[in-house]
Parts: sequence; C-alpha cells; structure tokens
Amino acid sequence: MAEKAGKPGKRNNGEIKVVFTEMKMEHLGQVLEIEERSFPSPWSYQAFACEILQNPLAFYVVAVAGEKVVGYAGMWVVLDEAHITNVAVHPGWRKMGLGRALMQELIRRAARRGVARITLEVRPSNAAARRLYAALGFEEAGLRKNYYIDNNEDAIIMWKEVWSNHGKGVSL
Ligand SMILES: CC(C)(COP(=O)(O)OP(=O)(O)OC[C@H]1O[C@@H](n2cnc3c(N)ncnc32)[C@H](O)[C@@H]1OP(=O)(O)O)[C@@H](O)C(=O)NCCC(=O)NCCS
Repeated sequence: MAEKAGKPGKRNNGEIKVVFTEMKMEHLGQVLEIEERSFPSPWSYQAFACEILQNPLAFYVVAVAGEKVVGYAGMWVVLDEAHITNVAVHPGWRKMGLGRALMQELIRRAARRGVARITLEVRPSNAAARRLYAALGFEEAGLRKNYYIDNNEDAIIMWKEVWSNHGKGVSL
C-alpha cells in the first residue's frame, strides 16, 4: 500500500502493513465507529454480535493496521452462493486500495469454502462502491425497487462468478 505518515502499522520501509483476520467480539467497538461513519442506517452493536455469535452462515473479516481496525467486510454463505452483507473502510483509510484488498480477501475465503457465485446490492448513488465492485468483476443483474429504507433508493443487484477448485482436485 502507499506510504501514509503517522498511521499505525507503518513499517521502516514506508509501507503500511495491514493484516486480515476473522472478526471477533473484541473488534466490535472499532467496527461500530467505522460503521457509523459509513452508512446512513448503520448496523447496531447487537446486529454485529448476532452475526458473530449466532449466525452460522455469516463470515466477517477485519483489516487491522497495528492495533487499529481500518476496515471490514462480511458475507452469508448458503451452499455454493455467498451474499455480501457489508463492506466499509475507515474514512481516513479510503482510496488506498484497502477496499479492493478486503473484497479480494473475502472472495478468496469464499472460494475456499466452495462458493461459486457471489451477489451483493449497491446504491446507484454510491459511485465508490460501484467502481470497486465493477473492478472486481461484479456485473449488474437487475434492480430491487425502493430497497433502502432511509431514502427509498433502489438497489442494483450485482453478481460475480468465482473460480473455485475447492474439493475438485486436479487432472494430470
Ligand atoms: C466503498 C469503499 C469500501 C471503497 O473503499 P476504498 O478503500 O476507498 O476503495 P479502494 O481504494 O480499494 O478503491 C477501489 C476502487 O474504487 C474507486 N473509488 C474509491 N473511492 C471512490 C470515490 N469516492 N469515487 C469514485 N471511485 C472511487 C477507486 O478509484 C478504485 O477504482 P480503480 O481501481 O478503478 O481506480 C469505501 O468508500 C467505503 O467504506 N464507503 C462507505 C461504505 C460503503 O459505501 N460500502 C459499500 C456499501 S454497498
């Protein structure tokens, strides 16, 4: 990632080291801070806690720089399909490639679980997210009318096929 002065996780060579790890309860304080700065109708602490503790279909990843959570993304996996539920990057860490890296990490982890297709919804007005998803190969496949309750905005439905060799072995 590009050099950025004064950030936790900064190494001697000027690079910032960000690691990806499964979201745990201990991350939720910092996750909530990002969530509230990122969405008009943020998820509550309880909503994230339910995902982590009670939803066997849910899987969430956090990006951590030093001790600081700088982004997160998550999905529900049902058989060979995944539904991205949430992705956000801390406002001070955007436009550095972290959103793309987070999504790539989630897609890798989905592929390892045998996921063949991934879907998500995005607001037509969310240029940053639409550009990110398009760059990752997600394609628009329709609209959900009046999907977002805060302003009745439609949702664009996107899908991506995932190449996965999970459990299939190789032919020599
Ligand atoms: C969407 C979001 C996760 C992108 O994170 P990010 O770390 O800034 O993204 P990246 O730096 O990896 O950039 C990925 C792509 O998006 C583009 N992009 C990022 N911010 C952009 C902006 N404000 N406007 C237009 N394009 C933007 C980048 O140029 C890049 O495209 P490129 O590779 O074609 O140049 C971040 O803006 C965010 O957290 N937004 C608030 C939460 C949100 O809207 N989540 C998505 C809900 S569907």
